[in-house]
Amino acid sequence: MIPLTLAQIAQVTGGQLHGEPAAVVTGEVVIDSRRAGPGGLFAAVAGERADGHDFAPAAVAAGAAAVLATRPVGVPSILVADVPAALAALARFVVDSLPAARIAGLTGSSGKTSTKDLAAQLIERLGPTIAPAGSFNNEFGLPLTVLRADACTRYLVLELSARGPGHIAYLCGIAPPRYGAVLNVGHAHAGEFGGLDQVARAKGELVEALPADGTAILNADDPRVLAMAGRTAAKVVTFGVASTGACVQAADVRLDDLGRPSFTLLTPEGPAAITLRLHGAHNVPNALAAAALAREVGLDLAGIADGLSAAVARSRWRMEVHHRGDGVVVINDAYNANPESVQAALAALHHLAQGGRGFAILGHMAELGDTSRASHEDIGELAARADLAGLIAVGEEAAPMLAGARRVRSWTGEALAVPDGAAALGAIANQLKPGDVVLVKASRAARLEDVAADLIKGAAQ
Ligand SMILES: Nc1ncnc2c1ncn2[C@@H]1O[C@H](COP(=O)(O)OP(=O)(O)OP(=O)(O)O)[C@@H](O)[C@H]1O
Ligand SMILES: [Mg+2]
Repeated sequence: MIPLTLAQIAQVTGGQLHGEPAAVVTGEVVIDSRRAGPGGLFAAVAGERADGHDFAPAAVAAGAAAVLATRPVGVPSILVADVPAALAALARFVVDSLPAARIAGLTGSSGKTSTKDLAAQLIERLGPTIAPAGSFNNEFGLPLTVLRADACTRYLVLELSARGPGHIAYLCGIAPPRYGAVLNVGHAHAGEFGGLDQVARAKGELVEALPADGTAILNADDPRVLAMAGRTAAKVVTFGVASTGACVQAADVRLDDLGRPSFTLLTPEGPAAITLRLHGAHNVPNALAAAALAREVGLDLAGIADGLSAAVARSRWRMEVHHRGDGVVVINDAYNANPESVQAALAALHHLAQGGRGFAILGHMAELGDTSRASHEDIGELAARADLAGLIAVGEEAAPMLAGARRVRSWTGEALAVPDGAAALGAIANQLKPGDVVLVKASRAARLEDVAADLIKGAAQ
């Protein structure tokens, strides 16, 4: 955070100051009052369950210098009409105050956080880098991330999400990227957008925002992403696993027993051998995107190769592979789910379960609109084709997976629909034996990480 007086904050946000104008905010800007700390700024937001304004005194008691709020809170504050807009204005002010900081933005339907974490671990080799923890990718998370930058910051690696048209353009207005990577166009939130072409329109707002001296990093294996080349003034650089001719490619992709990919990275500077510590073949395109981005920012091939091979998963519940003492393996991929990411996870499960039995505990995939039922059926079919020993569909919306699994006549595994995570745990816990692999995955709302945690502990055994 660059130090800002309350008077400056009021001026930048167009807010009304209630407090000491010369008091300075030096600490983090947060929207969770429990994270408020000395010298920080607490932004009060009214959520579904709680109203941040009620926690303003607690935030100040914890050391916050002031509160950004929409109504009087009885403690030092800046009153604004709209808190997200105020955060955006503050973040933009910080960006404009730090002209030496280069901004890279990443978007796509799946893999933003995984790729952002990889890219950050490469780019921070070049200098002080700010990147969010987890998925801080919306109108709150992005400005809060930007506000962590200070005079030392050289790079910002930002994740941009969209649930509708204009969202990514808005985020680009807060922190105008010089580099923009688009990973893929898939079905995440496709119901809200109205279809894949609309998703592509929205994701492409990132490359439309790039300047002529910037770089668009596009996935040549995804035609909707590649077509975005026509929507940018920036230079275009491509990556691809399957695309011969992409600027950055992977050849000879192999997976070890735990599904960790090794491959030869092909770049204009030559090849390099890479072994990822992350699990799942889907992390290969993510690694290529991160490599192509870091290469543009200025990291040399040796740095990219070292960095990719050393990079670890920084964000929780994405393809975490846990070995239980009794030889059962649990894959906690419960952070989120959409058709492409479940497909990727089932492929990884199939690979890990070679020589043993594979089980999938799958909750619903949210926000798929009219295609929801059919998509859940298709996932059931994929699970059966992955030759799992068992499929447990959790919750009503996931239940159509069973009909899909039954389409595969040759499948000998068992499919079961249960109402909730506890029932899933009850159904499987006593069946597991050494060598079995269990995948746990669902949309965020299902909170299946608790099931994964119990399975890892072996609690219900
Ligand atoms: N390239 C990819 N293709 C398909 N699935 C992927 C890919 N990369 C990651 N995944 C899977 O997608 C899920 C979400 O990964 P990640 O958190 O990186 O994506 P995200 O785009 O940031 O998601 P969100 O929209 O929730 O922020 C994980 O289960 C992960 O295993
Ligand atoms: Mg994310």
